[in-house]
Amino acid sequence: MADVTFTVDGKKLTAPAGTLLIDACRTAGIEIPAFCYYPNLSLQAACRMCVVRIEKIPKLQTACTTPVAEGMVVQTETEEIKQSRKAMLELLLGNHPLDCPVCDAGGECELQDMTFKYGAGESKYVETKQHREEQQWSPVVFYDRPRCILCYRCVRVCGEGMDVWALAVENRGASAVIAPNQGDQLDCEECGMCIDICPVGALTSETYRYKTRPWEMNHVGTVCAHCGDGCKTTLGMRRADDGMEIVRADNRDKSGINNDFLCLKGRYAFDFANHTERLTKPLVRGADGKLAPVSWEEALDFAAKKLAEVRDTRGGKAIGVIGSNRTTNEENYLLQKLARGVLKTNNIDHHRTADYAAFAAALKGHAGREASLRDFFDAPAILLLGNNPTEQHPALAWQIRSNVRLHRSRLYVANHEHIKLRRQAKAVADIPQTAYPALVQYLAGHDSALESNESLASFREAIRKEESLLIAFGSEYRGRDIQALVEFALSLPNAKIACLGDYANSRGAADMGMLPDLLPGYVPVTAPGHFAEEYGALPTEPGLDLVEMFDAAGAGDLAALYIVGSNPVARYGVDPSALKNTFLVVQDMFLTETAVLADVVFPAANLYEKAGTATNTYGDLQLVKKGADKSGVRADFEIIVRMAAKLGANPRAFVPVGKGVRADFGQTRGAQSGEADRHQVWLAAHSLEPKLSPFDPFAIFDEIQRLVPAYDVPRLDLLLGNDEHVKSELVQIDGTVVRRDLVLPANDHLATSGTLGRYSAKLTEVANSPTMLTSAEETAAD
Ligand code: SF4
Ligand code: SF4
Ligand code: SF4
Ligand code: FES
Repeated sequence: MADVTFTVDGKKLTAPAGTLLIDACRTAGIEIPAFCYYPNLSLQAACRMCVVRIEKIPKLQTACTTPVAEGMVVQTETEEIKQSRKAMLELLLGNHPLDCPVCDAGGECELQDMTFKYGAGESKYVETKQHREEQQWSPVVFYDRPRCILCYRCVRVCGEGMDVWALAVENRGASAVIAPNQGDQLDCEECGMCIDICPVGALTSETYRYKTRPWEMNHVGTVCAHCGDGCKTTLGMRRADDGMEIVRADNRDKSGINNDFLCLKGRYAFDFANHTERLTKPLVRGADGKLAPVSWEEALDFAAKKLAEVRDTRGGKAIGVIGSNRTTNEENYLLQKLARGVLKTNNIDHHRTADYAAFAAALKGHAGREASLRDFFDAPAILLLGNNPTEQHPALAWQIRSNVRLHRSRLYVANHEHIKLRRQAKAVADIPQTAYPALVQYLAGHDSALESNESLASFREAIRKEESLLIAFGSEYRGRDIQALVEFALSLPNAKIACLGDYANSRGAADMGMLPDLLPGYVPVTAPGHFAEEYGALPTEPGLDLVEMFDAAGAGDLAALYIVGSNPVARYGVDPSALKNTFLVVQDMFLTETAVLADVVFPAANLYEKAGTATNTYGDLQLVKKGADKSGVRADFEIIVRMAAKLGANPRAFVPVGKGVRADFGQTRGAQSGEADRHQVWLAAHSLEPKLSPFDPFAIFDEIQRLVPAYDVPRLDLLLGNDEHVKSELVQIDGTVVRRDLVLPANDHLATSGTLGRYSAKLTEVANSPTMLTSAEETAAD
């Protein structure tokens, strides 16, 4: 749209015609107060705080509903305007309980801030205030009616943003109140967006209310520990007896790929970190067959001695290593380096939730064809093949809904289930579960690939007319099906594609070579090239995959297994007896079904307690920052470095600090739990300078950037807290075929998160709550 020029408070401004005055002013650094206005939600014009004086218009106007026009002259802060805002505040405070000292929003309340700015120190009201008891609408949402200023942000974010419509306005005028959809209960997805968006303390969160004050918390921006979308989250931490505990998670500064969105898991499911069953001491199985606590040194010595013995007597092939889709890139990278370079084995794998290797192979050499999560916000057209983002990728579902609502994006859904996003779709293809590969053939023009009908034909026609298409596909596609799908995408002029896998760093685990046949960056183990120069001699025969490792263990061919942050026994239904002759080392937070079988268990930190990077399922790389802390546990990174040193690796070569040009940002020099002191003692014992600390993940990030071209992205941007898309076109693989059964979708829904979810009391409570609405139920009711 053409630009128009106008004047605000004497300043000449330009903005595209049609821009709302409030937005144009904010862009120019002129703050206009607002309660009901919220970017990307419909206009309400309910609060009248944004009033301004526009020349030639007799009455004050609301800036949130007025588009800018050529020659417009605006005043935003005259005495008249201040008086008007003050009068509005007086009205809002008429029945407000003024319980700011105990209100959760105290210190972060927009009504408080506005009252401070515009006065309203006296009230004309002498009537007794109407009191209403607080109501609990769901396991996480509380409502305090007298605090509500009826801005309707909550109603709009729930309806328009979440497409849940669990909130409404009851009654009219002075009797208007916000009400839930089922009597006094919310039937909803429990995302907490309504709480976060509420400008006052009317809606409060069960996990945070009356616990602390905002200024008592440390705030750290990091990445959500749960699904593959990798939302940026700001954790609020406060000191506890045994470290720093998380009390809140939000993204109110809208700083990440998810804007201000977080789902139920990101917002509330951090409590697993404080579960009473959390391990805080290393355990070793004694002669009596029982696991008993020992010192870190003892446990490391015992595990390393046994692993070295197996390596030296039976060779690396008798050892297996299983990594994690929840640990950082640096940890996965280091673990495969330990496996290949120190334990001399390629028996390396992880729980694969998507076939990223096939995807990388198919994308090789095609720059700019992988979609980032951001792309889904404004793409003109989206094709969703399989998956149910509302349950499995809530941030993606949010982006798609926002795009359809705000930009009229055309959404095409092909699914074997009636997923909720059908509501936003322009066209839907109902296909059998087995028909996903055939659908791609059909879309590519092979008429006989599918039994066609009119609706499928028009679905195909509409897609083929799209000039710019984003394709997102789920785990329904694996191996050669992915190759065919990417080929179809590449045949369209401007198509981009995204592969949907589960968990916070599933993509990173695959990218970092947590695979039996591929090194980091998908370099085949048969031709290790510069990795061999860096690591020394490497085994060049592909190793056993995860399923084969357990088969080998059962057959007595796997003498030792080292598992980091993974629970394959539960996940893959492994018979525990298969491991009875295998020396098992496990690093985890809990005594999982796998850890309970181990000979040595190391208590590990989780993603909120460490530093590094993580790659979401779209290939968006972000910085992970240490926020919480638990005394007794250690980051997987540190445990792997210490294990490597005990196995005879030279720490300087294992973590070559300063070898690249950009190492050591000191991210992990946390002083909590004596971490810095502990590192200091170890460094002195190994004659290393503190500035050459091998416990700094950024030294390894430096190596990753040197050796994995796809990860050589601008580092400054990352350090500033932004995301950077990895360059998938630079991977070095020609083709890959894996057993389809190795890709095992997590099948999590909104209120589950694998093993981690089981240890979140809040998530379990919500999952069992009758008010929790899953999209399956909702679409059934459609
Ligand atoms: S918590 Fe429930 S009511 Fe609130 S926005 Fe989310 S879905 Fe809607
Ligand atoms: S509950 Fe909060 S967000 Fe909802 S209308 Fe009241 S003040 Fe606004
Ligand atoms: S959508 Fe995924 S990454 Fe985002 S908050 Fe939810 S669980 Fe976390
Ligand atoms: S912000 Fe404009 S009327 Fe509320």
